[in-house]
Amino acid sequence: MALNPARFLQDLHRLRSFGASGVGKGVVRPAFTAVDIASRQWLASRMQEAGLEVHFDPVGNLFGLNGPKSLLIGSHSDSQPEGGWLDGALGVIAGLEIARASKEDGGPAISVVNFQDEEGRFGILTGSDVWTGQISLAEADALTDTDGLTLGAARARMSGRAREFLPHDMFSGFIEMHIEQGPGMDVSGDQIGVVSDIVGIRETRIRICGRQNHAGTTPMALRQDAFQALSDFNQRINARFGAVATKATVWTLGHAELSPNASSVVPGQARFTLQWRDGDLARLAAMESIVEDVAKDIAQERGVEVEVGPVGGIDPAAMDDRLKAALQQAAHDLAPSKWRDLPSGALHDAANVARVMPTAMLFVPSIGGISHAFDEDTKEEDLIKGLEVLNRAALSL
Ligand code: GLV
Ligand code: MN
Ligand code: MN
Repeated sequence: MALNPARFLQDLHRLRSFGASGVGKGVVRPAFTAVDIASRQWLASRMQEAGLEVHFDPVGNLFGLNGPKSLLIGSHSDSQPEGGWLDGALGVIAGLEIARASKEDGGPAISVVNFQDEEGRFGILTGSDVWTGQISLAEADALTDTDGLTLGAARARMSGRAREFLPHDMFSGFIEMHIEQGPGMDVSGDQIGVVSDIVGIRETRIRICGRQNHAGTTPMALRQDAFQALSDFNQRINARFGAVATKATVWTLGHAELSPNASSVVPGQARFTLQWRDGDLARLAAMESIVEDVAKDIAQERGVEVEVGPVGGIDPAAMDDRLKAALQQAAHDLAPSKWRDLPSGALHDAANVARVMPTAMLFVPSIGGISHAFDEDTKEEDLIKGLEVLNRAALSL
């Protein structure tokens, strides 16, 4: 049986049912939650039905293997705390359909992968980070989510299924299909994007300790208000990052917590995350120095303690020329004049995998450029076009 787009869409919708939530087609399926584990178990059963050998590694990455040497296709199925139905899921189910169809047709050996914690509940692209050796399993185990749960404790929930880490040389290369997650192709009207390179990221957690006190009796001049310090920190970062940024540079303060978070208490503590992304290593480093400088200045001028945690990151990654050419040819054949080359401002497991084997990525458009939100979506015809282009490229390799 040839590639089956109806079966692909059916599996994609079935995967959405694990953690389906919110308006539209949203999902809540963060790494190692009960629904994430259940969805991985279901995916494993679909892989098995397709005649692939199911393999969970110690960090929760799930492989559907086809023989000792194969082309690997996939992505991730964990979501942000409020995520869309396609971010990651699309690439996993496309890999499943292409591997399954190729097996049925007696085509080339294709395996599928579903990486764990791509969305960074614990680290940054944690499952592929560990598999590709960017960090050790022991280092990963000590990472915590924002509630203090360690990855070591979380992955123990799946330990009964875990076998060894797979050698990279089982695979001739890796291709990841993904939604674009930005407005580029939605605006240009293209159906397929072939990724040239993936942006780099740095991220840290910061804690400001001031003095908790009474909101009615503490004179303004005597306050060591952790929230005011955070607010000042943010404004200075905006000014100083803005001075070194290009149009492509982005930064986000995405998580913040005040303690005790009460209207009549001068906040004693603020904890927040700061991440910044750019394609240039030197600029990423310059921005890290700015964070350190601003932290020192705020501490000195406001009489608070500012602790900047370890800075984690993924370096920018270029995609492989040969795999990219196969995607470009397939896009040219199946979506003539409706495809383009473009960089990725979102992170992907492909950035890690590119360090250990030839790797490429293709994008389909995101309606309205929306992602990491419940209303993320893509036209069905674009999902199918992406599947067909990826399949053609995979068979040509
Ligand atoms: C991955 O989801 C990212 O944050 O770019
Ligand atoms: Mn993703
Ligand atoms: Mn994502």
